[in-house]
Order: sequence, then structure tokens, then C-alpha cells
Amino acid sequence: MKEKMRIHGGARLEGEVMVSGGKNAAVAIIPATLLGDSPSVIENVPDINDVHIIIEMLKYLGAQVEFKDNVMTIDPRTADKFDPPYELASRMRASYYFAPVLLGVFRRCSVPLPGGCDIGPRPIDQTLKGMRTLGAHVDTPGGVIMASADELVGGDIFLEMPSVGATVNCMLTAVSASGTTCIHNAAKEPHIVDLANFLSSMGAVVKGAGTDVIRIRGGRHLHGTNYTVVPDQIETGTLMIAAAATGGDVIITGTIPTHMEALSAKLLEMGVHVTSEDDIIRVRSNRNFRSVNVKTQGYPGFPTDLQQPLAALLTVANGTSIVTETVFESRFRYLDELRKMGASSRVIETTAIITGVDRLVGARVNATDLRAGAALVIAALMAEGVTEISGVEYIMRGYERFDEKLRSLGAHIERVREGSPVPVGGFLPNI
Ligand code: UD1
Repeated sequence: MKEKMRIHGGARLEGEVMVSGGKNAAVAIIPATLLGDSPSVIENVPDINDVHIIIEMLKYLGAQVEFKDNVMTIDPRTADKFDPPYELASRMRASYYFAPVLLGVFRRCSVPLPGGCDIGPRPIDQTLKGMRTLGAHVDTPGGVIMASADELVGGDIFLEMPSVGATVNCMLTAVSASGTTCIHNAAKEPHIVDLANFLSSMGAVVKGAGTDVIRIRGGRHLHGTNYTVVPDQIETGTLMIAAAATGGDVIITGTIPTHMEALSAKLLEMGVHVTSEDDIIRVRSNRNFRSVNVKTQGYPGFPTDLQQPLAALLTVANGTSIVTETVFESRFRYLDELRKMGASSRVIETTAIITGVDRLVGARVNATDLRAGAALVIAALMAEGVTEISGVEYIMRGYERFDEKLRSLGAHIERVREGSPVPVGGFLPNI
């Protein structure tokens, strides 16, 4: 059943909200449990659609999986297949993390090319190069990653850009390769460090995660483990921006403030109060925002996944902001939807020029990808009147109980059936 979100803007967010486990960490860690010779228990797993797709893939491959109250138990010992089906793999980006894992376990794999958000070209050449460097025969006939290797042997992999996906896949290949692998120009995102910590807890030797060079001594026997997933950096950031957008006062708990420094710096520059202590971030604002310029970069730079949510806030800032997207060139399509709500922007190649307006107004808009959906929710929270957002399934791919969390802070937000004029919760007036 397709749903849309209906939001009555103007409510100030106030109170305390707990961040869920990281999506991008969980989707790398869970497939990696297949590398162990005994069950793993993973805690703080976000209950999101992408995780449910991974569960279906694990079950198809023959593993036993239980998932309840954000704790997942995976018993890999019964896994006996190396060819997840297209219907599952094409539904998410991280499905290709199964390729190096299955190659390590079965010495061959057949994994359909990944799906995921349509935010511009998402090639996988660096992943294929990394796997080949370690001795795999890899090809992609008919849109399927077919790989095999009698033996995987460590080596030096030079990534052409610090790709998150390629770094994950090279790490997952390297733990099964004998000798030492060095991944140069590696991504430094918190989820890379979390995957390294997870692999170490399985018995792997991984050094340097969080820097440009990751060194892995592979070929060791890996066992099941108990592990807790790192808090979600992007959910934290989205909640921080939502709090600021509504002139709210929100305490975000269970987070890692150092992961948020690039966003906190931008919000402070905009005139938002951001303070942090231990695992808590507090965001307060008076809705009087200064315009800023933002350029997306790999960690510790400003994350591309927060470009869209922050841009929603910039639509009501005083003056003109320049947003430069250096990671995914087509990540500005959501600006067309924001324009329907009164936002003023124009895009020149990889730069968006956003001129602040006095107010946004409710409209019917469409979420075209996960973070675009988050941006529309933030815009709707600020807008006068009612906004209806379709494409909710994108938002639920990556945010756990997003509407529920915002409601607990005072937002007037509900999920209603697509095509149905009658709200399921039934408290909002018609548009
Ligand atoms: C991951 C995140 C996504 C985030 C992105 C950038 C997951 C599941 N998804 O996506 O939320 O927006 O990092 O932080 O973790 N590239 C190539 N060749 C490759 C690989 C990448 O040219 O083989 C390019 C891409 O086109 C893109 C850039 O490198 O321009 C970064 O992509 P990458 O870091 O790989 O993003 P994903 O892993 O897909």
C-alpha cells in the first residue's frame, strides 16, 4: 500500500529524541556477518526498509535471521547460495556489498548490479578494480557482477576517488585475501570506521580506518561476534536541521557530536544555537537564518546526504546561498519540488543558487529519493498550511519511525493512504 505524508506546517519542535543506528553502517555490517563461522548478534540495527531487504537477501542465501527490537541475530552456517535475485538486489544500493562477501565465502558470486536512490550516475568501476587487484576474475555480463577466484591475495588498491561503496567492498574482499592489502585514498566516513571495528571484532586485522589508507591483514579465520551499530550521522543531521527549521528547542540523544562538526559549523554560521555534551546535541533557533555557502565533500567535509535537508532550510534564510555538490552531480532535482512551495532557486551545473524567501506554503510534492524526501519534510514543517508528500517509501528506506519521532517532538505529521482523501489519523484539515 503506497502512502503519503501529510504535514501541517508551523509547529515548533520541542523535546528529546533518540537517534537510531546508522543505515549506511548497518547495510555494510550485516552482509559481512556471512564471513563468520558462527552466529553474530548485531544491536542498534535501524528498523528501515533497506534492512528488511537485506534480511530477505540473507534468507534467500540460506542464512537464519531473527530481527526484533533493533537486535538482529544472523546464523551464517546454513548459507549455501551465492546468487541473490535481481528482485531483491535491484531494490537497494548496498546489495552489492554481498559480492565480496560471497566471493570470500564461496570463491564465487553472482550479484545483480545495485539499485538505490536515483541521484545521478553511480558507477562501480572502483569496486571491480579492487576485487580484480586482489585476484578475482570479475565481469558484469547482463548487469550481474560475476566474480570468481581460486585464491585471493592482498595487494595495493589505489581508489580514484574516496568512494564509500568501493572502500567497503575492498575491505570486505581484503579480509578474505591472504597477506596485506592497502586501500589508498579510502573513504573516511564514520560507517567505514564502524565496519572496520566490526570486522576486527570478528577476528580480522584492520588498521587505519578513518584515514586515507586502510591496511588489512587478511585470510584469517573469522568468527561470529556481538556488535552495536554506530548512531546514524545523517538522521542526527536531519533532526538537527528540522529542529532549527521550526524555531525549536530539541535535544538529540544517543549520537556522536564529533561526527556532526561540518553541519554544526554551518548551522552556527546561520545563527542557530548548537551545543553538545557527551552523546547529546541540543539545537535551538529563532528562525532568523543567515545565508551560507556549502560545498559537499567526503568526511570530514559536509556530507552530500545532508545537502538536500540543509538546502530546504536555506530557502528561508536571509540572502542568497550557494550550494555546490561535488559528489553526486544530479542531486538537485528536489529543488523543483521546493519551488512548488514558494522556494526560489536556480541550478547551474553542479551549483544551486538559493535566494531566501519570507515563507514557504504547503503544496502537493513528490519525494524522488531518500534525502530529497527528508528535505521536503523539513520544508513542510516550516510551510504555512498543509503539504502532502508522496513517495514516502523512499523516506522509510532510510529513516526509522521518522514521522513518529517528529510527532513526538510536536510536529503535525501523519501518514495517509495514497489516493485516499481520508486521513488515517484524521486530524488535519483539507488543503
Ligand atoms: C554512499 C552512501 C550514500 C552517500 C554516498 C556519499 C551507502 C549505502 N550509501 O553511497 O548515502 O550519499 O556514499 O557519501 O553507504 N564513484 C565512481 N566509481 C565508483 C564508485 C563511486 O565514479 O566505483 C563516484 C560516484 O559516482 C560518486 C562518488 O564516487 O560521484 C562517491 O560515490 P560513493 O562514495 O561510492 O557513494 P555510494 O557508496 O554509492
